[in-house]
Amino acid sequence: MTSTTEPILEVSGLVKHYPLTRGILFKKQVGTVKAVDGVDFTLGRGETLGIVGESGCGKSTLAKMLCNLEKPTAGSIRFKGEDITRLSGKALKAVRRNIQMVFQDPYTSLNPRMTVGDIIGEPYEIHPEAAPKGDRRRRVQELLDVVGLNPEYVNRYPHQFSGGQRQRIGIARGLALRPEVIVADEPVSALDVSVQAQVINLLDRLQAEFELSYLVIAHDLSIVRHISDRVGVMYLGRIVEIGRDAEIYDHPTHPYTQALLSAVPVPDPDAREHRERIILTGDVPSPTNIPSGCRFRTRCWKAQERCAREVPALAVPSRFRSTAGPAAHDSACHFAEEKQVVPAEEHGNGPG
Ligand SMILES: Nc1ncnc2c1ncn2[C@@H]1O[C@H](COP(=O)(O)OP(=O)(O)OP(=O)(O)O)[C@@H](O)[C@H]1O
Ligand SMILES: [Mg+2]
Repeated sequence: MTSTTEPILEVSGLVKHYPLTRGILFKKQVGTVKAVDGVDFTLGRGETLGIVGESGCGKSTLAKMLCNLEKPTAGSIRFKGEDITRLSGKALKAVRRNIQMVFQDPYTSLNPRMTVGDIIGEPYEIHPEAAPKGDRRRRVQELLDVVGLNPEYVNRYPHQFSGGQRQRIGIARGLALRPEVIVADEPVSALDVSVQAQVINLLDRLQAEFELSYLVIAHDLSIVRHISDRVGVMYLGRIVEIGRDAEIYDHPTHPYTQALLSAVPVPDPDAREHRERIILTGDVPSPTNIPSGCRFRTRCWKAQERCAREVPALAVPSRFRSTAGPAAHDSACHFAEEKQVVPAEEHGNGPG
């Protein structure tokens, strides 16, 4: 689906810092985990924004803040223009209904002692105003049908389903309150490759059917490609590059995105010929000890003295500002440039 111009979510300067403590009896703060460290983006109505990044870069923390499961340390989240981080009581509850989360692991996120009907209908216990009591069972069965499961399964337990079916149950629960926004945190990572596409296709169909806006999180750039209108790449708590699907995949300008993409297989042999394989060295720094200036510089082959001093802004790099081409999208690099990268599987040498 393509986006309209109207934003449904506007995220600005979003931060989540956790205190890092030592000791059990006398907790002493010895540092700060900067899980999310200044994130900005907008999500258009009807749009799908994919967020990708390595383990620990803050994706789930971001998702939880959007769904009001974690309070931000700083920054704002606007839903249809209203800052939801400042709401409480009834107003907060009303907004919560509208932004629902689908979790990563269908094996651990569904209570094994509850029937499928109770799991999908649980949101109605929290929001009784959403459906009259006598109507709930019928609604749950309709939701099962909507996600492609037999409505007669309503009294079964999670262990009686496959991984893909369980994720459908999780999606049905996410839809129960008829939200406008779905935040899906790695919705297919725990599933077999053969089942991943089915769940992605289901999400795609539901989006059209229920006019949903999606934020879909993944480790892997190839998973979000199929459904995203735009993609944001996260590194150590920040978005380092964001743009339309084709801009990010075919014209990445941030070295980190280029490195991630060089690990994604590309079927087109013509495109392959012009690509270069990039292997990142070193580990991701700890979120308790983020490098000064550009946080990617410790692993970047282009890093210069300026990168240690100046935090690069997430903006269209000046050298692309006058062009309307696909490289002219937001990238947080002092030395942003277009680069074609070679896919990993096409080369014999593994990661170095
Ligand atoms: N409640 C918490 N207290 C302290 N640190 C936390 C807490 N939750 C997350 N973190 C830390 O914040 C960082 C970001 O975690 P988060 O779960 O958001 O990453 P992620 O991108 O979702 O990773 P993954 O791909 O493994 O799911 C990690 O270093 C994590 O250890
Ligand atoms: Mg996560």
